[in-house]
Amino acid sequence: MDAPEAEDHVVLDVRAAGICYPDLLLTQGRYQAAAQPPFVPGSEVAGVVVRAPAGSEFAEGQNVLAAPGIGGYAERLAVPPAFVLPMPQGLDFAQGAAILANHQTVHFALTRRAGLLAGEKVLVLGSAGGIGSAAIQVAKALGARVLAGVRRDHTEEFLRGLGADEVVPLREGWLAEAKDLTAGAGVDIVVDPVGGDVFDDAVRALSPGGRLLVLGFAGGAIPTVKVNRLLLRNVSVVGAGWGEFLRTNPAALRETADALAELVAGGLRPPVTATYPLERGAEALRDLAAGKIVGKAVLVNG
Ligand SMILES: NC(=O)c1ccc[n+]([C@@H]2O[C@H](COP(=O)([O-])OP(=O)(O)OC[C@H]3O[C@@H](n4cnc5c(N)ncnc54)[C@H](OP(=O)(O)O)[C@@H]3O)[C@@H](O)[C@H]2O)c1
Repeated sequence: MDAPEAEDHVVLDVRAAGICYPDLLLTQGRYQAAAQPPFVPGSEVAGVVVRAPAGSEFAEGQNVLAAPGIGGYAERLAVPPAFVLPMPQGLDFAQGAAILANHQTVHFALTRRAGLLAGEKVLVLGSAGGIGSAAIQVAKALGARVLAGVRRDHTEEFLRGLGADEVVPLREGWLAEAKDLTAGAGVDIVVDPVGGDVFDDAVRALSPGGRLLVLGFAGGAIPTVKVNRLLLRNVSVVGAGWGEFLRTNPAALRETADALAELVAGGLRPPVTATYPLERGAEALRDLAAGKIVGKAVLVNG
């Protein structure tokens, strides 16, 4: 039986659920929003509407996406209509589930927080991960020249396939390499979901007027910055928290989904590189924690 609140919710059969880093942090009790166990993780899904409230724009049988925040690793889900989105034309269910959290976050970060202009140079860190691979695709689709900074070996072909113009292995001397690739000028924007060791050199990689987007700390350590460096070089370090932004700007969910649907119409396809049956969700999260996922993992149901 559906929960009592389901009458004014959209009920959907979940066909695919994205595996997200915030899901992992939530299960480890390390996320900013705590959930009391037992709970079902899962913040992004694609599925088919079973029932929709009268007057909503959704109808039985329609393919949709949903951003429930929690509970998505499930066969059936009830979601308030405000968190349900049309499925972009051209995506299958797994790709639909994969275009929510990461692509929305980086679209928000690049456009609303960094004010990306076509032709600017964007350095993406953690670029073989979920946020990084989405950032390469979105930055490229918005007209940037993209440098993919990467720690893991054997990822160059994958990164170039996403649209990276240059691949910069994050080893000793990477800053000089990145500077050479920009004729000494540096980059306009750094997308940083990693933090940790590379942060200082990432600030140095910025050209005057450059913006470093703080997205997360997958590398473990939360870096600090000496603000005189920002003043002396006219560069900015900019926080980009999508969930927090949505809390006070809920209309941005649909606006960003519509903007991404246009990029999908232009050919963008999220890189679903690993699929797991729904009942192996715990294994998928463990693989994400162990750094085994290049690109994006998705749970599939049916
Ligand atoms: N700000 C927001 O609104 C928002 C939204 C969603 C997620 N996030 C955050 O973004 C971060 C990344 O999420 P994700 O989905 O991209 O995770 P992911 O798929 O696991 O990727 C994390 C990346 O971090 C790099 N990395 C991991 N451990 C590292 C280490 N010890 N040293 C250096 N690099 C390391 C890896 O880079 P390589 O690819 O180079 O190997 C990996 O690709 C998380 O902290 C997550 O919570 C923030």
